[in-house]
Amino acid sequence: MSRKILVTSALPYANGSIHLGHLVEYIQTDIWVRFQKMQGNTVHYVCADDTHGTPIMLRAEKEGITPEALIDNVHKEHSADFADFLVDFDNYYSTNALENKELSQSIYKKLKAAGKISTKTIEQFYDPLKNMFLPDRFIKGECPKCHAKDQYGDSCEVCGATYNPTELINAYSAVSGATPIRKETEHYFFKLSECEDFLKQWTRQGSGTDKATLQGEAANKMGEWFENGLNDWDISRDAPYFGFEIPDAPGKYFYVWLDAPIGYMASFKKLCEMKGLDFDEYWKQDSTTELYHFIGKDILYFHALFWPATLEYSGHRKPTKIFAHGFLTVNGEKMSKSRGTFITARSYLDHIKNPEYLRYYYAAKLNSTMEDIDLNLEDFVARVNSDLVGKYINIASRTAGFINKLFNGEITQIDNSPVIDEMRRVSSLIAESYAEREYGKALREIMRLADLANANIADAAPWLKAKQDGTDARTSLELDCSAAMEMFRLLTIYLKPVLPNLAANIETFLNISPLTWASVHTPLKNGHRINNYAHLITRIDPKQIEAMTEANKENLQATPAVAQVTSAPVSTLPEVEYISIDDFTKVDLRIAKIVNAEHVEGAEKLLKLTLDIGEVQPRQVFAGIKSAYDPETLKGRLTVMVANLAPRKMKFGLSDGMVLAASDERGGPFILSPDVGAQPGMRVK
Ligand code: 2FM
Ligand code: ZN
Repeated sequence: MSRKILVTSALPYANGSIHLGHLVEYIQTDIWVRFQKMQGNTVHYVCADDTHGTPIMLRAEKEGITPEALIDNVHKEHSADFADFLVDFDNYYSTNALENKELSQSIYKKLKAAGKISTKTIEQFYDPLKNMFLPDRFIKGECPKCHAKDQYGDSCEVCGATYNPTELINAYSAVSGATPIRKETEHYFFKLSECEDFLKQWTRQGSGTDKATLQGEAANKMGEWFENGLNDWDISRDAPYFGFEIPDAPGKYFYVWLDAPIGYMASFKKLCEMKGLDFDEYWKQDSTTELYHFIGKDILYFHALFWPATLEYSGHRKPTKIFAHGFLTVNGEKMSKSRGTFITARSYLDHIKNPEYLRYYYAAKLNSTMEDIDLNLEDFVARVNSDLVGKYINIASRTAGFINKLFNGEITQIDNSPVIDEMRRVSSLIAESYAEREYGKALREIMRLADLANANIADAAPWLKAKQDGTDARTSLELDCSAAMEMFRLLTIYLKPVLPNLAANIETFLNISPLTWASVHTPLKNGHRINNYAHLITRIDPKQIEAMTEANKENLQATPAVAQVTSAPVSTLPEVEYISIDDFTKVDLRIAKIVNAEHVEGAEKLLKLTLDIGEVQPRQVFAGIKSAYDPETLKGRLTVMVANLAPRKMKFGLSDGMVLAASDERGGPFILSPDVGAQPGMRVK
């Protein structure tokens, strides 16, 4: 009987590009969905951009656009990336949609009516310049353990310590640079502490069997959380905040993580409207449909505690299962901008072109656990070239031409052979592996079959028979090549969830209707005519990988953000190229007060300057003046900066402008000083 299944992938934040790390999950989910659809099940796959919260609000402000405009742009970018990686959502929506607002507010009201909402006055960090409460991530300061500067409010990236923002030394707001103050505010809480019994029972459902709600490792993690006791969940944030207002609580907004998973429902609601589906059938308390969430292991807490509790106490069904996966490493290490392994989806497409190579490689590495997976770029090239080109496509490229040229494109009667029998026999084993998300296992089995097929063709040696005279050789050649086409067709069925485009091209070549899992039992018929074989896939050239990592290497030795006002003896002055006054006024030169100057760990030439030019937020600029200045002597000085130079990402952070300095072989760099009376922010012209 056809099952009714709703599947989700985690909603990516709308403030950054999709990268190869994200794609593990979308490719994993998409393969599963395509497999289930091939099985004849009714499957809906929905997702959306996760659009709310402080980082998105601040990024929009920085870009000088509204948050709505920002999330609109990102939605277009993300949608194109997913489409180009063949991630086939039935709907890709936004958490800022009306459906999500209505669902979030109605769920909140139900939780409140169920007595699960409380309020409490808490003390939080507040930026007195920017007039906003600061999330921990927006408070920085010196690590209380190792004294590294500029560490986040929750953890130190240098020594790995975790702490409270209150423990930071010389804390400052990452938004404005101001010293944060403590301020009281009333927050709304979801009483998670009262949901423990329900959650324990939900977690234990079917545990240890294939009906288990959670993977073994995830269930263990839950056990630890239960042991530590569940805290009530703070679900409100104060204005200014980009999100949905809480009903009857002016100036209070839902924390982004409250409305994010509800975005799964909202995206599905929109799909129901488009396709005429019954929303309640999938979300009512006693729904008999299935609901699966694919997530990364880092967001298990939200999906295995908050989310089922939210659903339970607002009268909805709970997830059937949660599938958590591990993180991606590249060449055995965390993705890194300096090594060029922090690769965006778009950059992969620009350099490697074919998304199915990555889909295949990820599938080969994926299993049902929460273990991390590694993209080893050398292995990636070798595996794709040997498995896809050398084994799979090779079957057709060595045999199809004979059918086209010598037999009028017609397949003859295919007798059951041991290889074909074996290929059919394992169909349900391969299906089981896909269903259990053991894709690596499925592909190993499929490649074993490809090896059998190739050995069979090698034995038959059609290229020799084609040179022989006589009807026996001809008949045998026709039989061998037809059997090879059937083997190729069977392998295509098995690989179709992973390689949907290639499968579609092969369906066209074989002149058959779209393959489903049941097509295993409908072999190519005697007299069936295939189309001319055309080249289906090319090898990856390792040079493409090199070019990709080069292109993604961030310019770490970027020229320091200091304009060298170089003098030269008059006699050697080059011919002057004049500029117009309009050209000159394009450069926004400002008097800047150096409010802070410090060494940058690991930087040979740079000092990090904090410059006040009368803006709400001081500028951070890296200047190549370390050889000439002790940072202490710079603090409080006035100088001149280029204020409208496009911000540049450097190894040590963003450099937002440039300080002017003079130098030549006689010495320097010397930074400039204005005359007495100049004030920070004055224009230099
Ligand atoms: O961790 C993240 O990237 C979140 N944006 C995932 C949200 S998933 C769901 F709950 F909305
Ligand atoms: Zn530290």
